[in-house]
Amino acid sequence: ATRKNIPSEYFYDTEGDRLFEAIMDLPEYYPTRCEYEIFDTHSAEISALVDPGRNGFNLIELGAGNGHKTKLLVNAFLRDNQQFHYLPVDISDNILSTLQKNFNKDFPRLSISPVHADYFNDLKQLPDGGNSINLYLFLGSNIGNLRMNEAIQFLKMIAGNCTAGDQLLIGMDLKKDPSVILRAYNDSQGITREFNLNLLRRINRELSGNFNVNKFQHTPVYDPEMGMAKSYLMSLEDQDVFISFLNKSFHFRKWETIHTEISKKYDLSEIKLLARESGFMVKKLFYDQKQYFTSALFELPYSV
Ligand code: AVJ
Repeated sequence: ATRKNIPSEYFYDTEGDRLFEAIMDLPEYYPTRCEYEIFDTHSAEISALVDPGRNGFNLIELGAGNGHKTKLLVNAFLRDNQQFHYLPVDISDNILSTLQKNFNKDFPRLSISPVHADYFNDLKQLPDGGNSINLYLFLGSNIGNLRMNEAIQFLKMIAGNCTAGDQLLIGMDLKKDPSVILRAYNDSQGITREFNLNLLRRINRELSGNFNVNKFQHTPVYDPEMGMAKSYLMSLEDQDVFISFLNKSFHFRKWETIHTEISKKYDLSEIKLLARESGFMVKKLFYDQKQYFTSALFELPYSV
């Protein structure tokens, strides 16, 4: 391509999963802790807003990962004697079985059916949890990997799968001091750098490439106007990289970029726009103390 890029879904092989878990523990990477704080503080109120008719609901988590933060919600729902069925959806079999073992141990009464699927493509084929109302979870600011128009398309797809009264709890990172955001993508231990370089190492491993990762520089930038953190790997010299499985070589000019990720940061007007354009209404926004992050509860309205 004239402007080279690697889609961010390729971050998450076994090594990428491990590096991302390490990122979530970094002092500079605030989103995970903020969302945890929100659930720790507001889970009772979230539970009160979900299924007030108490007929039971399906808790469908898109990209559940290790489910660490979800435990706080599950705990609150169980405390309130909610009848619900938990359907964690993830593309990684490995992380799903970890989650299941973990939840079985902590919540022996919980009914849980892990679903191994790619939620971008297989939303239609999700099993029916047995209850009539659905609460979708889309946490961790995963929506941030999409541009605004893509995010709207994605939420429209979820809305298309919903019936009136269904809800979506979605985690979004907020606009803030650019230096705070940049540090989150350029940590002092260099873990995020390794996370990005793993894309090149992965090509070396899986496609027998010969990337010399020392000749690429991890370069995140933040555009406060767009609210967009972007990550690049930049070639430090003129070089050719050969990828055996493609029997093809690729030229990189000095300072040429490979775009690896966008992480969109939202403000209130964009959140409202996102909800409106995709057919949801904003039921409530929950914040952490610093207002770095929000958990937005969207609901599909009954049409009038
Ligand atoms: C998993 C997409 C929310 O964009 O903040 C963390 C991934 N990339 N550090 C994010 C990520 C670099 C993360 N998301």
